[in-house]
Amino acid sequence: MQANIVLLPGDGVGPEVTAEAAGVLNVVAELGGHEFQLDSHPMGGNAIDDFQDPLPPATLTACKAADAVLLGAVGGPKWSDPTAELRPEQGLLDLRAEMGLFANLRPVPVFESLAPFAPLKPELLRGVDLLFVRELTGGIYFGPRQEQGDGDVAHDTLVYSTAEVERVARVALRAARGRRGKVASIDKANVLASMRLWRRSVTEVASAWPDVEVTHHLVDAFAMQLMRSPADYDVILAGNMFGDILSDEAAILAGSLGMLPSASLGSGRQGLYEPVHGSAPDIAGRGIANPIGAILSAAMLLRHSLDLSAEADRVEAAVAKVLDDGFRTADLAPDGQAAVSTTGMGQAIASRIGAA
Ligand code: IPM
Ligand code: MN
Repeated sequence: MQANIVLLPGDGVGPEVTAEAAGVLNVVAELGGHEFQLDSHPMGGNAIDDFQDPLPPATLTACKAADAVLLGAVGGPKWSDPTAELRPEQGLLDLRAEMGLFANLRPVPVFESLAPFAPLKPELLRGVDLLFVRELTGGIYFGPRQEQGDGDVAHDTLVYSTAEVERVARVALRAARGRRGKVASIDKANVLASMRLWRRSVTEVASAWPDVEVTHHLVDAFAMQLMRSPADYDVILAGNMFGDILSDEAAILAGSLGMLPSASLGSGRQGLYEPVHGSAPDIAGRGIANPIGAILSAAMLLRHSLDLSAEADRVEAAVAKVLDDGFRTADLAPDGQAAVSTTGMGQAIASRIGAA
């Protein structure tokens, strides 16, 4: 098949991990006789430097025309002055909104060989298989706000409409049907009106899916429960902010934040794929970042946007294989143990795709 894929390497470790994910896509194309056109575009802090715009119009146009977009990471200390008018993160938020990507899928990959790196007791990790479905273009990230707090007050507003909650709830319910049939919906209905609407809307939609078991949880208690008995949950449905926070917390289960991929989807096949980790400025440019989150994001791209499930399975199997074979980037290597570089890991995975 032919596919037009836009790469947004972004800032910090973004270009390093994106290069490895692109390498994997090229191997998949070669083995399967596919033609993937990969084009890189500026976005984030680098685009502020070069174009005074974190999401230049040409980048947005290319993304909208693409079959899929693969992003590295955006942001860094250079652009985080609190008084700055342009922010790399705003480019990402605008891109999600412009592409209509309201559902963010964040699976938590728990590889057996990495269990020793998770700070939790190994028995707690047994049977853990989680998928976060995070609402992505609403909530407090997009509600009315006072842009620049030049006085003593600033505000952001948490707004949800029933339509916004219902469409993302349907994504979670559909995903649960193909898994263990359970959705845990997260809110703060005991305090926030918007979250009472959230709970009511999820309950309403769920009534049409009697085969899926839906439970409701307050976010504070759930944050604790998630570490105490992670194997109890299947699909976790949350709003933009709570989903952002809880999915980083869940990285503890995977052994490293560098392991987590994500897919941001709208109503069609088009999607934006990115590792959950940020630009990691402390290790940028050193060739030591873990590319697995980006590579597993490329696997999600193959599955969701290109309908190449067999290829996606093969990439995921290759990742499991390199981990079984003992390959570890620095984030997964305990002090003093030899670690492979970003490219070392990327090439090890790429070379196992045909074989796996
Ligand atoms: C994420 C990131 C972003 C978010 C930032 C970079 C805007 O933390 O994708 O989880 O908060 O959504
Ligand atoms: Mn985040």
